[in-house]
Amino acid sequence: MCSGNRDKNIYRPIETEVLDVVTESPAIKTVKLRPREELTFQTGQFIELTVPGVGEAPFTPSSSPAVKDTMDVTIMKVGKVTEKVHELKKGDIVGLRGPYGVGYPLDEYKDKEVLVFGGGVGLAPLRSLMFALLDRIDDFKKLYFRYGAKTPGDIIYKDLVREWSQRKDLDFRITVDKADEEWTGHVGLVTTILDDMDVDLETAIAVVCGPPIMMKFGTFKLLELGFKEHNIYLSMEKNMSCGLGKCGHCRIGTYYACKDGPVFSYDKIKDFHDIWQ
Ligand SMILES: Cc1cc2nc3c(=O)[nH]c(=O)nc-3n(C[C@H](O)[C@H](O)[C@H](O)COP(=O)(O)OP(=O)(O)OC[C@H]3O[C@@H](n4cnc5c(N)ncnc54)[C@H](O)[C@@H]3O)c2cc1C
Ligand code: FES
Repeated sequence: MCSGNRDKNIYRPIETEVLDVVTESPAIKTVKLRPREELTFQTGQFIELTVPGVGEAPFTPSSSPAVKDTMDVTIMKVGKVTEKVHELKKGDIVGLRGPYGVGYPLDEYKDKEVLVFGGGVGLAPLRSLMFALLDRIDDFKKLYFRYGAKTPGDIIYKDLVREWSQRKDLDFRITVDKADEEWTGHVGLVTTILDDMDVDLETAIAVVCGPPIMMKFGTFKLLELGFKEHNIYLSMEKNMSCGLGKCGHCRIGTYYACKDGPVFSYDKIKDFHDIWQ
């Protein structure tokens, strides 16, 4: 009886152990978590992470949805909750609730060219998406990966990115805004590495995730190249509170980002005010 009542509390976080903390860049860490109850997700959905005594915040898991017992969350330090997350150590206990929202509709991407296009910490949800796409790569016509970071030191998941760069079945390019002495790759904004793709613009899918300014100009560049509005998928990080379509904090026009998103195709939201804020 008691546990039945507890299960009805949709805000109840699951007790979760911190298994490891990896520093990805000066401002970004990946926390490996093991929830004490099953918490599975579809790539693109999000969870609410509670740091006891501090508060909670929404994050998109960066690990593969096929991994059921642990979950990685990659977090940039920006304020109260994320600063405390950066202080977590192996063995600490946090809370997780979710998953919430609607993720990437992978079945709709079948037999099409798929571009995964990100900047900065936007690679966190895209890492999860890449794991899911690479697991069934034969379902897609061709997979493109384009990623930009401010400097070489800001590139996250360096080992994984190096591994992807060597795959023959992935069309891979990365860039930095500003090089250092050791960087031999492309220098320029992430929008400058999109021109060499040979895709069917009627059907090609683009999945975009990054800081608002990158999402905005990245989307405009894709439209200029000829990608169709309904084939551009954006992960919208609106301010959230309940995560459940109840408080109205995350409204985008007539939608709630937490319930109807966070993934939206551009045609659905393009006419609403201030979507890039
Ligand atoms: C669906 C979703 C998925 C997300 N996934 C990730 C992720 O995988 N990794 C990651 O690092 N971050 C992610 N974020 C952003 C993350 O939720 C915020 O950075 C976090 O809530 C900040 O909390 P804080 O208490 O540390 O900062 P606060 O002290 O609340 O604020 C610090 C600064 O960050 C800004 N801010 C606060 N909340 C948000 C927000 N939700 N979106 C944008 N700016 C905000 C504030 O305006 C302020 O300038 C995601 C957000 C959403 C909505
Ligand atoms: S976060 Fe409460 S309605 Fe979306």
